[in-house]
Amino acid sequence: MVKICCLGAGYVGGPTMAVIALKCPDVEVVVVDISAARIDAWNSDALPIYEPGLDDVVRRCRGRNLFFSSDVERHVGEADIVFVSVNTPTKARGLGAGKAADLTYWESAARMIAAVATSDKVVVEKSTVPVKTAEAIEKILDHNGRDGVGFQILSNPEFLAEGTAIRDLLAPDRVLIGGRETAAGRAAVQALKDVYARWVPEERILTTNLWSAELSKLAANAFLAQRISSVNAMSALCEATGADVAEVAYAVGKDSRIGAKFLNASVGFGGSCFQKDILNLVYICECNGLPEVANYWKQVIKINDYQKSRFVNRVVSSMFNTVAGKKIAVLGFAFKKDTGDTRETPAIDVCKGLIGDKAKVSIYDPQVTEDQVQRDLAMSKFDWDHPVHLQPMSPTAIKQVSVAWDAYEAARAAHGVCILTEWDEFRSLDYARIYGGMQKPAFVFDGRNVVDAEKLREIGFIVYSIGKPLDAWLKDMPAVA
Ligand code: NAI
Repeated sequence: MVKICCLGAGYVGGPTMAVIALKCPDVEVVVVDISAARIDAWNSDALPIYEPGLDDVVRRCRGRNLFFSSDVERHVGEADIVFVSVNTPTKARGLGAGKAADLTYWESAARMIAAVATSDKVVVEKSTVPVKTAEAIEKILDHNGRDGVGFQILSNPEFLAEGTAIRDLLAPDRVLIGGRETAAGRAAVQALKDVYARWVPEERILTTNLWSAELSKLAANAFLAQRISSVNAMSALCEATGADVAEVAYAVGKDSRIGAKFLNASVGFGGSCFQKDILNLVYICECNGLPEVANYWKQVIKINDYQKSRFVNRVVSSMFNTVAGKKIAVLGFAFKKDTGDTRETPAIDVCKGLIGDKAKVSIYDPQVTEDQVQRDLAMSKFDWDHPVHLQPMSPTAIKQVSVAWDAYEAARAAHGVCILTEWDEFRSLDYARIYGGMQKPAFVFDGRNVVDAEKLREIGFIVYSIGKPLDAWLKDMPAVA
């Protein structure tokens, strides 16, 4: 019986291992973490992350062949295959600060594996890492491991998207496995392939060399983010010309070479990966003497920052150039719908922008707690992507920010409503009721194009929708980005 251990019980480690356990009932899967609180939550009825379908998979496997434990060393020692799915944040200080990946957690995981391993192990990079990381990890394992214990390192990046993680894991577009092109390397690739082959069709399991697999993950995230920045750049031009970004994106996406997915204009992309992975790609390009390539990808992030500040400027300029003392309702704080994850959510920059202009911000998100909101708004850039138990627990609350229990409460007596996450429930709110309770003129700034702007205008709102033709009011008060 193959034993699998996964280091890191986060958004990737938890769901990925739960699905492996579901599909391979004869394989024992143990997920371990240095955060005892996170492991306790995985062993409770309130899982530490919200992901549709996850509860059900965990309930079916936990205690059968899926276990969550803080006894890291024991389970690593017993495993045949060790997945490493720990944080790989952007370096906040030192060489490469603000760009390079911080591999502190990965390195300490590798040293621990080397120290406790008494039998051969296949070590799988599940975290997103810079290309060539496997070489460094191999050195750590080989120099620190016991005599006679062999390690094979594989790159098996994860392509799941939060919000649809279980669906993506059950029916992935592809599984990618990179390994050394030696007999032992090929045997390790085959061992991991055998795990996925239980439910993933053979033609969807791609095998490559290590560096292609590592780089493909960074490349995939860069391409995805680039599509969003491309359509967001178009959205600014649409507003300036009277074109409608939804119509433009539809017409563009009909070209089968381009395709229709991932072309929704918005207030900007967020999430723990896109920015971090592009910064990392930029750094790798610079280190390899490719400044033109680095600058090309850097632009994807610049447009994303531009889109967020453009949104804030639009809010402020529409409301007579000041939001000081005005209540602004923020609907949605998570970086996308169907997740409670707020890492790098555009809502952070938008709220900070509004607070900077002295607005009073009232936030409602169905999956985000007040504590989380306060922590996110208090945290400095690049400090968020560290294990939970290393993050500040009770930040000093920002007084200008409150968290409401529903959208109506958030919008009560507000001057404006900003929609920042595309939660389905925001499409069907009683906007007439919201309008009735707001200050006038009442504004809606739709950062996700979820509301029917015409219907809201009939109610009396002044509506701004990203990339859509502007109301006369907004045309008279142009935002300066
Ligand atoms: P996360 O922060 O949710 O989980 C990482 C976990 O690793 C934390 O619970 C932390 O306590 C634990 N950890 C850190 N050092 C450890 C150690 N030495 N031993 C045991 N546990 C340790 O992060 P998430 O989102 O799961 O991401 C993990 C990796 O996967 C990152 O490299 C990320 O870029 C990548 N990734 C993330 C995706 C996502 O949608 N969140 C998708 C694809 C890849």
